[in-house]
Amino acid sequence: MSKTVSLINMKGGVGKSTLTVNLAWHLSCYTNWMKKVLVVDLDPQFNASQYLVGVDKYYDFINDGKPTIWDVFEQHKRTPNGKNKLVSPKDAIRNVVNFKGGGKIDLLPSQLELSLSLKNPTQKPELLAKLLKKVEDEYDLILIDCAPTESVLTTAAYLASDYLLVPVKPEYLSTIGLPLLVNSMTDFLAEYDDQSLELLGVVYNGCSGYYPEEQKSKMEVAKLSAKHGWDIFDSEITYSRSYPKGAREGTPIFRTSYVRTAQATKFREFANEFGKRVGL
Ligand SMILES: Nc1ncnc2c1ncn2[C@@H]1O[C@H](COP(=O)(O)OP(=O)(O)OP(=O)(O)O)[C@@H](O)[C@H]1O
Ligand SMILES: [Mg+2]
Repeated sequence: MSKTVSLINMKGGVGKSTLTVNLAWHLSCYTNWMKKVLVVDLDPQFNASQYLVGVDKYYDFINDGKPTIWDVFEQHKRTPNGKNKLVSPKDAIRNVVNFKGGGKIDLLPSQLELSLSLKNPTQKPELLAKLLKKVEDEYDLILIDCAPTESVLTTAAYLASDYLLVPVKPEYLSTIGLPLLVNSMTDFLAEYDDQSLELLGVVYNGCSGYYPEEQKSKMEVAKLSAKHGWDIFDSEITYSRSYPKGAREGTPIFRTSYVRTAQATKFREFANEFGKRVGL
């Protein structure tokens, strides 16, 4: 049974895309996991797509005439000749890497035009869940990288997910973004009263351990989490310049050049905890 997890926070720049891509790598190629992972890029800024495949290959994907996540949200609109342009998951999903142990990463890429769909009052949030249902047997894990702003894409992510993972940078502005997520979840559950939303947990990202502000923010997050019954991951992800460097090199943290072992180990601990919590 595949599990679908959305990485979400209504605050930008907290590490949603970085963690999506690094989790996909770790859980597909690390000996203990070797899982089949699909990354769904649900952000019009397409960071996860570019991080996973690099700039050149990304534009090959966008220009090859095959559908992307944008087409998924446009497929219900009829073409002038009345034909429906239903997106086939086989066309839209691209293979990124296969590992000898059986693990792999596939990608449903995003493109900037997805932002045009957000202006369209007829888009349907359930289209993503419907598409993923057709391929869920082929994967152990589906990771959805969300955009930081509330839109039909947020509803689409909620409808498609078994769990939500909330990365939080322990700093003031990040903390005040969390109530927006609470509002978003509450609004969703009011509209879709047959659905549930399960929070896998909050994970602290970009921790240094030194600043009093960090401790203060963690206390605020812990208070809010306790109020809503949210778990906080035992493992924390440290601040490391290897994350942006890895994005440039197209590598996960554990393959980034000159990465410090301690930093890579911290991520591995988090990824292992994530895998266990999801039940992979
Ligand atoms: N643990 C970390 N240590 C250092 N830099 C990090 C860490 N995690 C993420 N970053 C960097 O922070 C920036 C923002 O990260 P990322 O793009 O993953 O956030 P995001 O939540 O996906 O942002 P957005 O809301 O814009 O989609 C990137 O430059 C990334 O390389
Ligand atoms: Mg992002």
